[in-house]
Amino acid sequence: MKILIFGSGYVGLVTAACLAELGNDVICCDIDKGKIDQLKKGIVPFFEPGLQDLITKGMHKKKISFTVEAASAVSDREIIFIAVGTPQKENGEADLSYVRAVAEDLGKNLKNYTIIVNKSTVPVGTGRLVAEIIKKKYAGDFDIVSNPEFLSEGRALYDFMNPERIVIGSNSRHSVKKMNKLFESFSCPIVNTKIETAEMIKYASNAFLATKISFVNEIANICEKVGADISEVTYAMGLDSRIGNKFLNAGIGYGGSCFPKDVKALNHIAARNEYDFKLLKSVIRVNNDQRKLVLTKTENMLGDLKEKRICIWGLSYKPDTDDTRESAAIDIIKLFHEKGVTISTYDPKVDYDKLEKEGEFVNKIIFHKDKYKALENCHLLIIATEWDEFKQADLKKIKLNLLEANIIDGRNIFNIEIMLENGFNYLSFGR
Ligand code: UGA
Repeated sequence: MKILIFGSGYVGLVTAACLAELGNDVICCDIDKGKIDQLKKGIVPFFEPGLQDLITKGMHKKKISFTVEAASAVSDREIIFIAVGTPQKENGEADLSYVRAVAEDLGKNLKNYTIIVNKSTVPVGTGRLVAEIIKKKYAGDFDIVSNPEFLSEGRALYDFMNPERIVIGSNSRHSVKKMNKLFESFSCPIVNTKIETAEMIKYASNAFLATKISFVNEIANICEKVGADISEVTYAMGLDSRIGNKFLNAGIGYGGSCFPKDVKALNHIAARNEYDFKLLKSVIRVNNDQRKLVLTKTENMLGDLKEKRICIWGLSYKPDTDDTRESAAIDIIKLFHEKGVTISTYDPKVDYDKLEKEGEFVNKIIFHKDKYKALENCHLLIIATEWDEFKQADLKKIKLNLLEANIIDGRNIFNIEIMLENGFNYLSFGR
């Protein structure tokens, strides 16, 4: 099919690469000329395993192209995806200005019947809003579909190609049929529903996963007080198929461009509809408090923090991505800066230059390209992201390079007995 995708971020580019791989003809459109120029040269502007290769393959096969010209791109397309950002406003509400701008472009440029599919995570009712904006300028026929994305960064291609469910929200039989055809090679259940329901499925899924994490973090906090071990507690809990063994890892909490934003947006949707979502408010509070626990544990370990230097391994919000949005590591660095602590860091993928341009606080961080070098002159190592290379790190080298053998493991990656045998003063979460 002939497809156009507005927005060349994670969701847009992964969708483009995978739909092209499935044999469709895909155009990607973005207002960021710099980004499109890079993509035209075949350069993907962020790290996602396998994506660079799949984009290159799609370009060679002439299945993917890139443009900033919405007007010409729209003309012959059968399906147009909206995959632009929906950042968070100060009050937690989702900012729909990019979605509105695309809808306005569509109103101006649509010529024939087209299916407009929303992939961005948007508040319930946005499908209707997009339709209203388009109708102001375009009198022809079109359909709106909500098709939320469930991919996780770091395994986005796998998630797209191996979905557990596909949700298609639409009020038109024709568009449902066409969307089902687009996804016919997948064997998972396809849930056909109303647009509003599809929009809610996305928020409810992310909020539930975030709730699972905050719940486990609270259990971990109690485990520490009563002498239980959270790893064994969650292992046994997870054997119950009603609970499941995923998203039960305790630590410094969730980050990223989705959970923090979507949980707050759902809380805002509830408030606007005069519903007090008490549980969700606690989920947010628990997550914020997990970051602060690192500071408390550090003070318990090191006493006065003045003149102390701390090394943080991992800046991305989770492994296998270079994304630092709402990363626990960044929040923790800010907390330490307030205490005047010098921070030395290492991350295998994060682009330090980019971070430096974006973050006002980074001038107080010493970035290293070698994880062992980053430990030198530091009184403590904090593990903030569970990269595989940290799990396999040389403990003797860590001990040798640190000033004092102190580790706070924010992701519970090390075995307690081994750490104690190696002479570390070691704290983790809930163990
Ligand atoms: C999340 C969802 O998992 C995807 O299904 C969804 O499509 C995506 O948001 C989105 O809305 O676009 P993502 O943010 O990429 O995906 O990453 P996750 O793997 O879900 O992790 C989110 C955060 O939770 C990370 O900071 C991770 O460290 C933390 N986490 C995860 C825990 O603290 N404990 C766990 O047990 C699992």
